Amino acid sequence: MPGFDFFSGQGLVRPDITAADAESMASSLFGITGTARELGSQQDRNFLITATGAATSAATGDSAGDSAGDSAGGATQRYVLKVDNPAFSAAELAAQDAVMVFLTERGMRVPQPVRGLNGLSRQHWHATDAALLPVRLLTFLEGPSLEARGYLAPPVVRALGRLSGTTSLHLRDFAADGLDRTLQWDLRNAKTVIDLLMRWVPAEETRDQLRAIADSAAARLAAVASVLRLQTIHGDITDDNVICRVLPNGHHVPEGVIDFGDLATGWLVAELAVTAASVLHHMPDNPLAALEAIVAFDEVVPLTEAEITALWPLIVLRGAVLVASGEQQVQIDADNDYARHRMDAEWQVFAAASAIGWEEADAAIRQALGRRPHTGAEHTTVPEHTTVPEQTTVPMIPALADGDYEMLDFTVTSPALADGLWQTTDAEWRLAQAALARRSAAVAPYGQFRLTRTPPHSRREPDTFALFTEVFLPAGSVIVAPAAASVTEIGGDTLVLTLAGFGLRIGGIVSNLVPGAAIAAGEPVGVASPVARVTVQELARPGLPVPHFTQPSRAAAWATLAPDPARLLGLAPQASVVDPAIELARRGAMMAAAQEKYYERPPQIERGWQELLIDTHGRSYVDMVNNVAVIGHSHPRFTRAVSDQLALLNTNSRFLYSALADLCEHIVATSPDPILDTVLLVNSGSEAVDLALRLARIHTGRSNVVALREGYHGWTSASDAVSTSAYDNPFSLASRPDWVHIADVPNSYRGTHRGAGAAGEYAADLARLLADPDGPGADLAAFICEPVLGNAGGVVPPAGYLARVYEQVRARGGLCIADEVQVGYGRLGSHFWGVQQQGVVPDILTVAKAMGNGYPLGAVLTRRDIAESLAREGNFFSSAGGSPVSCVAGLAVLDVIRDESLQQNADAVGRHLAGRLAELAERHPLIGMVHGLGLYMGVELVRDRDTLEPAVSETAAICERMLELGVIVQPTSERQNVLKIKPPLCLSRESADFFVDRLDEVLQGGW
Ligand SMILES: Cc1ncc(COP(=O)(O)O)c(C=O)c1O
Repeated sequence: MPGFDFFSGQGLVRPDITAADAESMASSLFGITGTARELGSQQDRNFLITATGAATSAATGDSAGDSAGDSAGGATQRYVLKVDNPAFSAAELAAQDAVMVFLTERGMRVPQPVRGLNGLSRQHWHATDAALLPVRLLTFLEGPSLEARGYLAPPVVRALGRLSGTTSLHLRDFAADGLDRTLQWDLRNAKTVIDLLMRWVPAEETRDQLRAIADSAAARLAAVASVLRLQTIHGDITDDNVICRVLPNGHHVPEGVIDFGDLATGWLVAELAVTAASVLHHMPDNPLAALEAIVAFDEVVPLTEAEITALWPLIVLRGAVLVASGEQQVQIDADNDYARHRMDAEWQVFAAASAIGWEEADAAIRQALGRRPHTGAEHTTVPEHTTVPEQTTVPMIPALADGDYEMLDFTVTSPALADGLWQTTDAEWRLAQAALARRSAAVAPYGQFRLTRTPPHSRREPDTFALFTEVFLPAGSVIVAPAAASVTEIGGDTLVLTLAGFGLRIGGIVSNLVPGAAIAAGEPVGVASPVARVTVQELARPGLPVPHFTQPSRAAAWATLAPDPARLLGLAPQASVVDPAIELARRGAMMAAAQEKYYERPPQIERGWQELLIDTHGRSYVDMVNNVAVIGHSHPRFTRAVSDQLALLNTNSRFLYSALADLCEHIVATSPDPILDTVLLVNSGSEAVDLALRLARIHTGRSNVVALREGYHGWTSASDAVSTSAYDNPFSLASRPDWVHIADVPNSYRGTHRGAGAAGEYAADLARLLADPDGPGADLAAFICEPVLGNAGGVVPPAGYLARVYEQVRARGGLCIADEVQVGYGRLGSHFWGVQQQGVVPDILTVAKAMGNGYPLGAVLTRRDIAESLAREGNFFSSAGGSPVSCVAGLAVLDVIRDESLQQNADAVGRHLAGRLAELAERHPLIGMVHGLGLYMGVELVRDRDTLEPAVSETAAICERMLELGVIVQPTSERQNVLKIKPPLCLSRESADFFVDRLDEVLQGGW
């Protein structure tokens, strides 16, 4: 018997029920005493009942299907009381009850109907207006939905698609009376529903737009509608109607399905369309994010060719039905806050869905599903794209046929775009003109990801992929038709031709042709316009609106619609395979697993410039982590100095050359105290620390060293021995040699001692350690730490701590080693060295990383008497340490830091950043603390500001999301819950703001 028919009435108004009514229904019909709170619904009334009294036997132990009592495990019992709209028949409601039992038997997580006191799951209630309202009680699935989430990460969207697919898979086997319904949400009725409800949409212009898009969607759908598979569908598996498990990183993974009110026979693919549409308002500027759900659904229930064709039109129609229905609902049911609240999201769904053209959406779905592009064979509205056999084409531009041309390289790795030329607005033009001075033409081929199109700060992928070939050539050069063609369109400097089975768009020409004109192969179609920049774009069909550039993630789909026109120009195809996954696999095949890598799916970074890193797709990222590139990536002055010296001489420090003394003089000039006047050059931080420890032990003739907990000092045997970080080496504490002793880390935020007296308390602890007869005190050679605790997350020790500690160490005859490998060299802004910030002078200071701006260079700066002790153990020599090239590199770094006032920049931008991060911390409770100063900072993320529980997996997920938004930032610290901030010191205020704005966006909108 047919069920509800939407078209027989005019909209459903929710039954008029109060929370008090719901409470009395729960107790009188189901024996449950509790409080009721209304849940939103378009056309029914739903109440959350929280049981306060003991439930009767009927409710707790005898629900239909699974037991309600069991599902809550003895905790406070919660239910959903549903007062169904009386328009729905008993058979329809019975089918909904039955399907919940059915799906539970199939292992799915869905609510269960609870029997009433009379043993029946469907009850009735006499409303005041004498109507008899159907009432049901369902178990309540505990857990959040996705509705209130902002951004949905790809694994979340995939899980949603998979859940929708799994539900469909099971529902294929479910049959019952009451499924033959005519619902407003059934997308088979979409066009009729939209036409009917259109009048409720307020503005005429909006109505016209809605109608036009819906008509176009319906027309595309009509071509395949008759062959779409029908089965039982839930009809409303959306962000709102799924219940999630919350992972430690904050991701909400959909696992349960609720609300079976739209259960009916319908198109299988409509189930997916409804699910996919519900993703769109979470990422309104990236509609193709829904592809993740589509792929996951298809993995469970493979879609047919016709279903793929129908999918995006159905998503658009779903959006249109939502807005038309929503506008009606808010007007006929003025008190429905739920419907009113949903309106913005509904419009976002529609706008996002209709922002992608049909052809692109279709191609993107096929590409994501690994299906072939449209062939025209089956249920398709796009004609088959055939190509002209190569032997019958005539090259369109004679200069190219002669081979008298130069290929232009606008890609990320192009040497021609060095020194920041890529950022100038006329970079392409300048390179083309230089090439034209040598040859008759210059070609910027199809398929390059153009660095020249890369903006420095971009929260979305930029449009870098060229879907056309561009030919620079003298004005007036003749362009001919590659094959017999007719003129489809002419406008401005652009001509569209139709050839056998495909289109050709030629831009940048002057042409006398008129629409409809027929041209033979080889016949002129025009001449290069005075701008002399001719664009050639092949189109799968003549009228197809194809952009010249697209985003990297959309390139593969667009490429099926606008393939490489190379052969029409007599050029070899420019296959550009730029896939970071290939690089990742190559690396994995040969490198040890212990070698760290950033990111789950790392971008392939092939260029750096100032504080930017750029991947092979032309995406730039603000680099917040590369402290080594202290003066910025690819600094021209540095590059030149190093390459000039390489061309001149590179040998070792046993020879005499001026650069060695030059560098040593410069380093000594930066010394925190004149007493540190002797330099030993090495090639890394590990080497510097290793040497520092050796010096201390030789000089004192003792062996014990005290290091701080949570520190990292390098990987050589000695520097590793004093590296205590359990993150870097989980066995670090157990495997320590007996000469290494560990003192507490002076972290006054989360350490043993906090607050005002922390410096004294930590120092007192150290005094106790040194006084211990079994401790390091008697045979103390050295104490080593970073003056600002970089590895611990940029933690600044409490004021006075280091002074007290150095005093105690010296009192016992030990030396004080300051490891400045990370925090020194101007990074702190206010001071060049960390020890200056702490008001102490060490006996030995180690430096590396920044010292060579990435060129391997490190140093030990110490007192002459300490350095002289080395002679007791023979000579010292490190092959690359202090080589002419490394010395020149070191000098260039110091010159640039001075001439470009980078320490002052670290101070100014660091203060600005600190201010903005402090403001962020006021709004986002996840930020527990902002550590550090200058451009060495750490944003510590905690789940609870009282317990300081580290938000470890959240930090990792936030870093992944920040990458998508154009920022490179990484977790650090022992607990990996601190965002490390140690960018090149040339970081601009604009880049600092971009970073903070993106972090704000992620903390606000989700990750
Ligand atoms: C504080 C500190 N010291 C020493 C090192 C070792 O330096 P390198 O990697 O140049 O050997 C590091 C490296 O991260 C460090 O952070």
